Amino acid sequence: MCGIVGYIGHREAYPVVLKGLKRLEYRGYDSAGVAIYDGKNIKLSKTKGKVVDLENRVKDEITIDGSLAIGHTRWATHGEPNDVNSHPHYSNSGELVIIHNGIIENYEPLKLELINRGYTFHSDTDTEVLVNLIEDVKKNEDVKLGKAVQIALNQVVGAYAIAVFDKNKPDEIVVARLGSPLVIGVGEEEFFIASDASPFIEYTNNAIYLEDEEMAIVRRGKKVKVRKIKDDSLVDPYVQELQLNLEQIEKGGYDHFMLKEIYEQPRAILDTFRGRMLSNEGIIRMAGVDDNIEKFLNANRILIVACGTSWHAGLVAEYVFENLTRIPVEVEYASEFRYRNPVITENDVVIAISQSGETADTLAAIKLAKSKGAFVFGVCNVVGSSISRETDAGAYTHAGPEIGVASTKAFTTQITVLTLIALKLAQKKGTVSTSEFHTYLSEMDAIPAKVEKTLKSDNHVKTISNIYKDATNFLYLGRGYNFPVALEGALKLKEISYIHAEGYPAAEMKHGPIALIDEQMPVVVIATRKGHYDKVVSNIQEIKSRKGKIIAVVMQGDKTIKKIADYVIEIPETLELLTPLLTTIPLQLLSYYIAVMRDCNVDQPRNLAKSVTVE
Ligand code: F6R
Repeated sequence: MCGIVGYIGHREAYPVVLKGLKRLEYRGYDSAGVAIYDGKNIKLSKTKGKVVDLENRVKDEITIDGSLAIGHTRWATHGEPNDVNSHPHYSNSGELVIIHNGIIENYEPLKLELINRGYTFHSDTDTEVLVNLIEDVKKNEDVKLGKAVQIALNQVVGAYAIAVFDKNKPDEIVVARLGSPLVIGVGEEEFFIASDASPFIEYTNNAIYLEDEEMAIVRRGKKVKVRKIKDDSLVDPYVQELQLNLEQIEKGGYDHFMLKEIYEQPRAILDTFRGRMLSNEGIIRMAGVDDNIEKFLNANRILIVACGTSWHAGLVAEYVFENLTRIPVEVEYASEFRYRNPVITENDVVIAISQSGETADTLAAIKLAKSKGAFVFGVCNVVGSSISRETDAGAYTHAGPEIGVASTKAFTTQITVLTLIALKLAQKKGTVSTSEFHTYLSEMDAIPAKVEKTLKSDNHVKTISNIYKDATNFLYLGRGYNFPVALEGALKLKEISYIHAEGYPAAEMKHGPIALIDEQMPVVVIATRKGHYDKVVSNIQEIKSRKGKIIAVVMQGDKTIKKIADYVIEIPETLELLTPLLTTIPLQLLSYYIAVMRDCNVDQPRNLAKSVTVE
């Protein structure tokens, strides 16, 4: 949450930072701000609203020349999203300027102390406390900015990625991180600072990912100096070559990132297979699993921790793992797991799932599991993210950048990776026969083409969306592998269209939610032919007899449900275990089109942010 961008070098800094903020806006869009330094004057402009509002305000308010700038796009934590609480923030003297992503938990006592020492505050933010604390240290201890930042950060409890500069030091930006991501792009005589690499990808492929508790002094024309915040020791910075390209982070002709990402799923799933699934040879090769195979095979149980959509992928994996491997699986919300004193042993394997690899609760759950001696395996999308580095081993989903705040391709590729792992373990354990294993592999192979085929329902789903776009409630029902898909369908709808929606296991309907059903209630039922089909058909009858409207996701050629449902959306035939990879697609499209028709901001739904780096 919150995106930070900075530039220092030989170019005009503002256009670089502005473009960077637009790319990072998925991280928060409550307010935006920029500070530009031309060596004499600091020019600062900020506003409630989006980066485009900032752009308009800058035109009226400030001159934009200067080769040093920092910018911020905010997801509000402390203080309502208004102009004053927007970043950057000045220190009291007006000499220091800061941007911050994270939360300073002990800001209140620090603020009181500073007030006692004569400091005044204009905003409600914890960030303004931090910049004044740095200023206070700098003055009292008579030290340079870098040292002052270090001393101040040692007094701070919480999470941060910061960039701060000093009016007296026109060639320097000091950055630091703990719990929030920060990457430095290293160009020719120029540096870029950002929450992820997307703001500078057209300028350089070389990047230094700061580790937690590290800070760096970024000086124009000099080498980046990295230190440990705690003990001041120097760290040799590792300059990594990035694989990202510009095309991956642009819309490519689609109206929204979400639609682009829905349509990317056949390719994304194929990329997830690449080099791992050698179907002709009957081999699944995954280094992170192969290198730790005994840990998996000897596991007493597998614990899956995740949040949101990733948690739903974990629930699908629970069905898949238990069915294929007979290893007991538990799936937990990371936010609950981390605080409930869970029983974890050295014989547990913990799988942490996260698209962003930055989710604070998931990261904390990983640290807890590791501290109890469990082996922790990460399934992440963002390469080099905090979770991918914190886990003992892992597998990337290779979905490519997911910019739309509502997760789509991350979900299907997470399920793909987890299914590959389960199949690999099942083969090793002998819990599936050789012929079953081969059948699974050849059906997996066919999935990208079947996703492609499922996407052909686009127009039909659009028509259905138009009919139900004004509904105020939706119910989603599924069973077995498709129960988590029902949860995911409901989550997608509520987060981007603001329609209340609930997902339920179909059989649970009569234990309560059936009371909600009347002629106003659209019910999306996932009814694949193989998964408890007759029972789901009975559920549909129960809804019909109470005048509910049925939108059924069925397998191609289904005749029974066609007769009773109001609308059916077909998916190609596949193995029941793989159906979530197909049934998810029309539900993503349904939520997308309903949101578009309701005039909602699909890619940046209200109150949300793509990566939740606060708990
Ligand atoms: C929903 C969504 C969120 C995320 C959740 C976890 O569309 O995007 O529910 O799934 O915040 O995020 P990651 O996977 O990055 O840990």
